Amino acid sequence: MSGTTFSGAEICQQLDRLVASGASLDELLSEAVDLLHEAHTRFHWTGIYELFPDDMLRLGPFVGSPTDHVFISVGQGVCGSAVAEKCDKNVPDVSKEPNYLACSSATKSELVVLIRKGDAIFAQIDIDSHDLDAFDSESQREVRRVAEWLAEAYDARGSGAR
Ligand code: SME
Repeated sequence: MSGTTFSGAEICQQLDRLVASGASLDELLSEAVDLLHEAHTRFHWTGIYELFPDDMLRLGPFVGSPTDHVFISVGQGVCGSAVAEKCDKNVPDVSKEPNYLACSSATKSELVVLIRKGDAIFAQIDIDSHDLDAFDSESQREVRRVAEWLAEAYDARGSGAR
């Protein structure tokens, strides 16, 4: 991938400042989505899906066009597969992914990074791009830093998945 990268550490520092000012988890999730979305010109839709105890992902804060996929069952689509398989997903060409739920016809590639602590999965960061193969290992690593920070925030809240 060409172009500038961004710093997950800087996003985490901004989230640290918000925590210090008493922000709620929901406020932290919204800020993380806003900052990630602004962090890279190839990020065209950025959102968080939260995992609920009935094995359903529910759309939380997002930036980009509204999506029909507000609820996604574990195992369904790229998002639900990431939870079922307990691993992040980088789909360089969504047209070649049989288990893909289309959000926008403009989307060409998608990245899903789990917000997890060990086996406990709290949520996920989902990013769509209008470019093919938009997510290189560096950008994945930076998104993962933010996901790890958010996992600590969920863990600190102490109630596991929503
Ligand atoms: N493409 C996702 C659905 C969510 S939208 O991209 C916002 C999937 O296949 O699970």
